[in-house]
Amino acid sequence: MDKTMEHPIPTVVSDDYLLAARLLKLGSQVAIPTETVYGLAANAFDEDAVKGIFKLKNRPFYDPLILHTDRIEKLEEWGIAILPELQVLADKFWPGPLTLLVDKPKVIPKLVTAGLPRVAVRIPNHPLTLKLLSLLDFPVAAPSANPFGFVSPSRSEHVHHHFAGRIPMILDGGPCEVGIESTIVGLENGKVTIYRLGGIAKEEIEALIGAVDVKLSSSKPQVPGQLVRHYSPSAKVVVVDTQREMNEACKEDCAVICFDLDPPENIQKVFKLSRTGDYKEAAKNFYHAMRSWENDKSVETIVIERLPDLDLGRAINDRLRRAGPAS
Ligand code: TXA
Ligand code: MG
Repeated sequence: MDKTMEHPIPTVVSDDYLLAARLLKLGSQVAIPTETVYGLAANAFDEDAVKGIFKLKNRPFYDPLILHTDRIEKLEEWGIAILPELQVLADKFWPGPLTLLVDKPKVIPKLVTAGLPRVAVRIPNHPLTLKLLSLLDFPVAAPSANPFGFVSPSRSEHVHHHFAGRIPMILDGGPCEVGIESTIVGLENGKVTIYRLGGIAKEEIEALIGAVDVKLSSSKPQVPGQLVRHYSPSAKVVVVDTQREMNEACKEDCAVICFDLDPPENIQKVFKLSRTGDYKEAAKNFYHAMRSWENDKSVETIVIERLPDLDLGRAINDRLRRAGPAS
């Protein structure tokens, strides 16, 4: 295969997980569905394959990758130990949208963790990908399958838009059920700490283990990937909190993504994240909504309503904070 990817290659889009497994074993990069967002996967033990991910995504090497597998026993085989404080969370939420930061064993290349002392691991909850992972005796490193700085892909067509002709296969598992990335959790001074808000709400974690710390990128940057503007779409984003702000922000050439509020009647391009005020539905729709007017040059501004800071609303708002003007 042309490792430089300078010439277009045919991209198969199908649910053939046996083919996906074969390609991954050969050292290729394959887009895979997860319940959160699509990932761009490669054999985590194969440095060249991992380098290929960074190259395809145009991702800086200081931004570490998450490992995915289907069973905790495999993590143990690879020398990845989960301390009891985090094991409780794994027991409850895996397979699911939870990533744990744990001590990195030697067998994981430094490239995967950007030289950091911990490695991020998760067992995703997608039937097709669990079947695929069950066929592999290595973990796959898989960042979200978008070029660096773009919003994450929650449907196979989003991945196709970015990577058609550049990867051999997109394993098509339909639209992602959760729709936003996993919640990243680790231990800091013995305390369970959330580093990225995601598909498991803070409330769900706290219901299980009590109060936790939250350390997002605006505080000390423990997690180098959390850069401001990481989630930016191409249009300008204006975030509003009230109906008055919504009315004022809505100019002729705008599109609107809303939850509780409604735009003025003259605005035609509107994506309501949920008709029933459901946070899960809003999260599932969020990235698709952000891409709705990707090819519509007339849309200069996307006016987005901030959600209540509750449940998955918190994680969506965090992405909005990054999509807006750097602050
Ligand atoms: O839901 C998800 O987590 C998706 C799907 C594909 O699993 N993946 C994902 O990966 O969102 P990515 O690469 O877009 O975000 C990974 C982030 C990094 O930017 C960094 O913030 C954090 O995870 N991370 C990964 N490894 C880390 C490490 N060793 N130490 C600290 N943070 C780490
Ligand atoms: Mg990402």
